[in-house]
Amino acid sequence: MAQVKFLVFADLHHYPGVFCTDARRRLKELFARAEKEKVDFAVSLGDFNHSVGTFPELIEDLKESPVPVYHVMGNHDTDGAALDEVLKAYNMPAEYYYKDICGFRFIMLDTNYYKHHGGITHFQYRNYFDFPNSREFLPDEELEFLDNALMSSPYPCVLFSHASLERRAKGGAGLVNQSVVRQLIRKANDAGKKVMLSCNGHHHRDNIRILDNVVYFDVNSASFDWLNAPHSLFPEELRNAYELADHQAIFTDALSAVVTLDSDGLVKIEGSKSDFLHGITREMSGNQECDGAGRPCVAEVQSAMFRLL
Ligand SMILES: [Fe+2]
Repeated sequence: MAQVKFLVFADLHHYPGVFCTDARRRLKELFARAEKEKVDFAVSLGDFNHSVGTFPELIEDLKESPVPVYHVMGNHDTDGAALDEVLKAYNMPAEYYYKDICGFRFIMLDTNYYKHHGGITHFQYRNYFDFPNSREFLPDEELEFLDNALMSSPYPCVLFSHASLERRAKGGAGLVNQSVVRQLIRKANDAGKKVMLSCNGHHHRDNIRILDNVVYFDVNSASFDWLNAPHSLFPEELRNAYELADHQAIFTDALSAVVTLDSDGLVKIEGSKSDFLHGITREMSGNQECDGAGRPCVAEVQSAMFRLL
């Protein structure tokens, strides 16, 4: 029986002067957990750094990691840097790829494409902002890649993506062609493959859902929740130091999960708990309690255990 243990985190959002995330301190906390839990690797589910060229310090910090760190591309990772530059900085072999580790296949997907009249384009320099209804999309070549990665795998499979493969909220957010992706997952499982788990970031929510005997884990942000309607509840000093602090509800500590899988079907998720910086919650800010998918903002990642048959 094969077993693997990894640390998963999402949406660190290093953006000095704009978002109050203290990402370098949080990354240290994540490394400390990875070391303590003796995980085989760590994975960032995207929106790690808003501009690798302008803020290279967080890339330097990756060298301090006690374990290999794998990356999934997030929409904001290319907001202030070219796609090629980000791939290089994150040491990614391509936008989407897979890695076989400890008898499991980990498939890193890239959900950062948008559809327009001229075709399909990868996110870069905020080009996707005006396409809320046709963005977060897997192009045909990537679907083919996924199909091949699943069907050729001698191992149980895990999917990592930035946007969710199971939710599509009103007004956007979540993969547009997710039903096609889940069809490929069903096809693989029907053929005797074992797709056990799919982890995503992006939505800054904590949710677990079982669909077709696969665990879909919506991994909360390691740093904060975005608030559409601004508030003025933070101390003046903090508000002045960060351009978009008024749009944040901030988790005091870095949230993450340690996931243990065994090839017999065990999925064990050990979450983490924090609280809200200065006690400022989403509800207090005047924003609706839940997002478009009906999920509330909480300062935690839940724990759960499943045995898949
Ligand atoms: Fe995102």
